[in-house]
Amino acid sequence: MTSVAIVTGASSGIGAATARRLAAEGFHVLAAARRTDRLAGLVKEIEAAGGTATAVACDVTSDESVAGLAAAAQAAPGPVALLVNNAGGARGLDPVESGAIGDWQWMYDVNVLGTLRVTQALLPALEASGAGTIVIVSSTAGFTVYEGGGGYAAAKHAQTAIAGTLRLELSGRPVRVIEIDPGMVRTDEFGLVRFGGDADKAAATYAGVPEPLVAEDVADCIAWCATRPHHVNVDRLVVRPLAQAAQHKVHRVGQ
Ligand SMILES: NC(=O)c1ccc[n+]([C@@H]2O[C@H](COP(=O)([O-])OP(=O)(O)OC[C@H]3O[C@@H](n4cnc5c(N)ncnc54)[C@H](OP(=O)(O)O)[C@@H]3O)[C@@H](O)[C@H]2O)c1
Repeated sequence: MTSVAIVTGASSGIGAATARRLAAEGFHVLAAARRTDRLAGLVKEIEAAGGTATAVACDVTSDESVAGLAAAAQAAPGPVALLVNNAGGARGLDPVESGAIGDWQWMYDVNVLGTLRVTQALLPALEASGAGTIVIVSSTAGFTVYEGGGGYAAAKHAQTAIAGTLRLELSGRPVRVIEIDPGMVRTDEFGLVRFGGDADKAAATYAGVPEPLVAEDVADCIAWCATRPHHVNVDRLVVRPLAQAAQHKVHRVGQ
């Protein structure tokens, strides 16, 4: 029977690439996000490539909306084997002393409480599958701080804490927990969201960087971890572009 994979934040970037990739790996994908028009396009694309997927409108900050995602998972055509908590992002690059409370609130709500809410709602189905996998897309900001990144790093540190805690708490039960920590990934929207739609600021993040990661690179890591035999638990996978030796050490050509 086809296994079901749920991907949150599937309407763009890493989530969309992961949905495409998992469908190609044979999962029936529930692609969840708020922008259903984009999800509909993604489902068409997956089907044209020979896979299967269902679009599910879901706001991870809403209990009711996440309950709808859990109901869609129950109705899906197979055991719910994989949850990829990917919905998230950054807002602002301000120092702690002047960071906007609203930005911090948004980052905590979507990245942290969103992951918590969706994981709680889907854990029964994942466990019932007999071989469940929870992926949490955190970040290298989940273990390293940088100037201006206080709110994002705080949220990603919290997601990392959820992954580690959950792995301990689920010990002895058939659900593994995998944390994916990407460094610099050039996606279409991450920088736009961070900088309130300012395309120049978003582009400057990647200026001169020879080859930042792209969404498909992270999807590849997620798919590899999720398709290992179930007794193999990749606790944490850290992935950066070659040009980024560390958070603060980025090779930029001509700079
Ligand atoms: N790009 C990077 O450099 C990088 C590096 C490390 C980690 N990450 C992490 O990787 C994940 C994906 O990033 P990305 O670069 O692919 O960013 P992105 O293109 O901006 O994608 C973010 C996704 O999250 C969804 N989302 C936002 N708020 C939501 C909500 N309330 N409910 C449901 N979905 C919501 C968005 O969909 P809707 O707006 O349609 O709801 C979108 O699909 C994030 O967790 C990010 O923190 C990114």
